[in-house]
Amino acid sequence: MEKKKRIAILTGGGDCPGINAVIRAVAKKAINEKGMEVIGIEDGYHGIINNRYRTLKYDDVSGILTLGGTILGTSKTANPYRYALKKGDKLEFQDRSKIAIQNIKKLDLSCLVCIGGDGTLGIAYRLFEDGVPIIGLPKTIDNDLRGTDITFGFDSAVSIATEGIDRIHTTAQSHHRVMIVEVMGHQAGWVALYSGVAGGGDIILIPEIPYDVNIIAEKVKERNKRGRRFSIVVVAEGAKPKYGDIVIQRIVRESSDPIRLGGIGFVLGEQIEKIRGLETRTVVMGHLLRGGPPTPFDRILATSMGTKAVDMIENKKFGYMAGVKKNSLVTVPLKEVGKGPKTVPLNHPMIKAARSLGTCFGDG
Ligand code: F6P
Repeated sequence: MEKKKRIAILTGGGDCPGINAVIRAVAKKAINEKGMEVIGIEDGYHGIINNRYRTLKYDDVSGILTLGGTILGTSKTANPYRYALKKGDKLEFQDRSKIAIQNIKKLDLSCLVCIGGDGTLGIAYRLFEDGVPIIGLPKTIDNDLRGTDITFGFDSAVSIATEGIDRIHTTAQSHHRVMIVEVMGHQAGWVALYSGVAGGGDIILIPEIPYDVNIIAEKVKERNKRGRRFSIVVVAEGAKPKYGDIVIQRIVRESSDPIRLGGIGFVLGEQIEKIRGLETRTVVMGHLLRGGPPTPFDRILATSMGTKAVDMIENKKFGYMAGVKKNSLVTVPLKEVGKGPKTVPLNHPMIKAARSLGTCFGDG
């Protein structure tokens, strides 16, 4: 009798719509079709280091397709190679990877499925190099993962941001104001670009194109002259002025990625008011982009990638993540992910299309 395979699933990093749809797809196919046993690791790599996990039965993953967040919990601060420990008001960092690998060995897993963004999958690659059979699944609203054209969570974030921009239009027109909508996206501009175009933003600011506030003010003036007495600015949290810096909201010391962006929208608002004397108001969409049910597109992407992961386990395709290239499911070496964020190429067709409609990117 072939020994029943046991796999485990963990979710790490920022949550997003679609994670539960992926957990559901991996677990249902593994249990239903492959007769595997499935373990859910709690709170990302914390669960591996502190042995926090539970068995996932078929019924545990039923009815979670449309559920936002992650039923397993997640963490942005748990890194086995640099594990933060509070000592009084001080933080101490320890390499707990050996403990993590021992705990994984004790679980006697055929595979650990890591659902995460660049931070989580970067750690997954190191664990793989240290002998753990690992498969990755690309999750982030930022869509900044190398090796895949799209990550699940992105479409949902763009959809939520676009709805926000649509709503902002009516109040901007009524009050003849410059309304600034700040969206997440970390160091890349995918969310701002796609929601800016979908929402009809007049000015779209992304990290990849440093902006000049005078050019933005000129665009606002030009619109006013044409009787468009309002303007919508969609700005990525990581956007920065040509000769200036990003706006940092806070530092999370225990996180491997401590910088938290946010607030650029307010800085811009003040500058535009000073230059143009027009009223501005700023809306920061923040974590709204990570909450709630996934879009149908993200449910389909999550289901496709989740079931693909089980095939990869069967084929022992360890050290890889499932991804999408030119609308086809592919496998991508996890190594690829660790090479830094995937940013928006300056010749991206969406930038070209927006420019031809008169959208301003703050660069003249
Ligand atoms: O990576 C996802 C993301 O939401 C980024 O867009 C954002 O910069 C960051 O995480 C926010 O992190 P936190 O939830 O720790 O504030």
